[in-house]
Amino acid sequence: MSEEVKKFKITIDGQEVEVLPGTSILEAARQIGGQSVPPAMCYYKPLETSGGRCRTCLVEVSKGSDADPRPMPKLVASCRTNVMDGMEVKNVTSEKTQEARKGVTEFLLINHPLDCPICDQAGECHLQDLSYEHGLETTRTEFTRRTFEPEDIGPYIKLNMNRCILCARCVLVANQLTEEREHGILFRGDHAEISTYLNKALENDFIGNVIDVCPVGALTDRTSRFASRVWFTKPVNATCSCDKCSGKAVLWMKGDEIIRVTARKDQYDEVEEWICNDCRFHKKDLKLWNVEGPRHIDRHSVISLNHYEKPKEYFRQIDNPDAKEISESDENQKGDKII
Ligand code: SF4
Ligand code: FES
Repeated sequence: MSEEVKKFKITIDGQEVEVLPGTSILEAARQIGGQSVPPAMCYYKPLETSGGRCRTCLVEVSKGSDADPRPMPKLVASCRTNVMDGMEVKNVTSEKTQEARKGVTEFLLINHPLDCPICDQAGECHLQDLSYEHGLETTRTEFTRRTFEPEDIGPYIKLNMNRCILCARCVLVANQLTEEREHGILFRGDHAEISTYLNKALENDFIGNVIDVCPVGALTDRTSRFASRVWFTKPVNATCSCDKCSGKAVLWMKGDEIIRVTARKDQYDEVEEWICNDCRFHKKDLKLWNVEGPRHIDRHSVISLNHYEKPKEYFRQIDNPDAKEISESDENQKGDKII
C-alpha cells in the first residue's frame, strides 16, 4: 500500500494552500491563482529545467518554515525555490518585491526596442504586459543599444534578436522536442545571442514550437508575419488528422481566412500539446480542419479584448488585509479573465 505523502502548508499573500513537497513557490501560487501569481518570463512548466534566468518571479519569503521561521535574507526566484512546510511568502504584498520587479523590468527593456506598433507579438507579449505593470515611463540610460539585423532562420521562422530577452525557452524546446538542436545561445553576458550554428536553417518537424514559447516577438512565424494584428483575429479550437502530432490547435481567423495556427495554451500561456510544423505552417485551408468552437483566451492583455463571448469573472478574493494594492475594482480590471 502506498503511503500518503504529507502535504506542506504555505501562505502566499495571506492565502493558505497545501501542496506536495517539491512544489515550487510559483506553482503553489498558481494553485491559488489571481494576483498572487508572480509573472514568469523564462519559466515554462512543460519544459524541463526552465526558469532561473529572468528574475521576474522574485518574491519575499518572510518565514522560511515552521522548523526554521527565519525570513530568507534575499528575495528568491519563486520558479526555482521549493516550498517548505509553514513557509510564508509575499508577492503583491511586498514592497521589496514590487521594487525589484521594477528593476528587473528596466533591465529586460534596456536593449529592447520600443517597436510594439510593428511587432507581431504585440497584444500577446509578456514583456509588454510586464512593462505596463512595472515599467518606467522614461529611460534612464542613453548609451547606444545593442542591435542586430533581423534574420530568417529557416523557411518558417524569423529571428529578431533585438527583442530577445535570453530566456532560453526556445533552446529547451529544440533540446527536448526535436531530434537535433541546431541553435543555441552563443557568447556570454552582453554579447550573448541566439544563433543557429553556421547559419543553419531550423527545419525540424517540431521546431515551430519555439514561436509559441518565445515570451516576446524575437521568434515569429514567417507564414503569418504582418498579416493582421492579433486582436483583429478570432481564435477557434480546431482539430485535424495528423500522424505527427495530436492535431489539436487554435486557428486565428479573419473572416474565413486562417491567419495563423498555434498550439493551444493554458491561462499561463503555456502550451498544452505541442504541434508539428505541418499543422502550424502548411494547413491554412479551413477544409483541412474540424472547427470545434471559440477558444477561451485566459490572459488579461489586449489579446482578450476581442470579445465574442460574454465575460465571466471568477476571481478568487484575496482575504489578506495587507494587500492594499488590490481592490475589487482593480481585480476586475487586471486579473485573469475568460473571454
Ligand atoms: S528568442 Fe525568444 S524564446 Fe529564444 S531566448 Fe530569446 S526571448 Fe527566449
Ligand atoms: S520565471 Fe523565475 S527566474 Fe524567470
